[in-house]
Amino acid sequence: MLAYRHAFHAGNHADVLKHCVLQQVLAYMNQKDKPYWVIDTHAGAGMYSLKSEYANTKAEYLDGIAKLWDAQDLPSVIKEYVDLVQLCNAKGHWDLYPGSPEIIRRSIRPDDRMRLFELHPTDFDILEEHFDKSKIAKVFKGDGFDGLKALLPPPTRRAVIFMDPPYEIKSDYQRVVASVAEGLRRFAEGVYIVWYPILTRGDHISLIEELNALSDKTLNISMTVQEPDEQGFGMLGSGLFIINPPWTLAENMKSVMPYLTEKLAQYPRASYELDSK
Ligand SMILES: C[S@@+](CC[C@H](N)C(=O)[O-])C[C@H]1O[C@@H](n2cnc3c(N)ncnc32)[C@H](O)[C@@H]1O
Repeated sequence: MLAYRHAFHAGNHADVLKHCVLQQVLAYMNQKDKPYWVIDTHAGAGMYSLKSEYANTKAEYLDGIAKLWDAQDLPSVIKEYVDLVQLCNAKGHWDLYPGSPEIIRRSIRPDDRMRLFELHPTDFDILEEHFDKSKIAKVFKGDGFDGLKALLPPPTRRAVIFMDPPYEIKSDYQRVVASVAEGLRRFAEGVYIVWYPILTRGDHISLIEELNALSDKTLNISMTVQEPDEQGFGMLGSGLFIINPPWTLAENMKSVMPYLTEKLAQYPRASYELDSK
């Protein structure tokens, strides 16, 4: 039973960090002539209305993308991402927020390809319709962890694997590690990007340790922006663990994390971390 719907969270602080990093990685991939694939193992619906009841149940985007809409002092890395979100909307309006599939579609080139997995039947139908007749995208209704294996290594021998599970079920943590380990066995050169939430129960700590053990080329970027709620729960922040990161990524993100953290902070002790090896 899948309860998670990304429509409730679209454009929140975690989406801002994750999509900003994703766009940076794809911009780097575009610097080389050779085509590549992007495999999005947990794609969601592809596009979200910020006017919908879902988005406005908790209006998480107000503490996310909305903090950047009118900012006049955006550093260039953040501006590239905000400009991309604006391109999905009529000029000067902020009605829609792109999910990772749309961020990817707008970032890759005509010879690159994207492969998307989504398990939720409703979100899959929306995603499939969104990419109807697309020549560059294939959309699969199925388990992204299992589906990834069959696509590696990709024919292009260049690929970004974007893994963004909901962690609604605890086994997602183990499945991420197993799936990345298997991915690396099949395709060691891939750029693997794993998103994770920072929750009070601290499950991300062992996830990072286990992912760290899989490679000696890694970058971990995380940002904590809020305190636990009254019951001691809530998503305090999020992070991205990247294996085989573009060599420019750490520097690019280092230059903007202080800005991003300050903009998205919901309490005075908001912070970020950036660790590479
Ligand atoms: C965090 S959302 C994805 C958001 C999307 N990547 C984005 O950045 O816009 C996670 C999605 O994974 C889907 N999902 C959950 N388990 C899955 C699985 N094993 N395989 C594929 N999709 C799954 C959920 O239905 C949900 O739409």
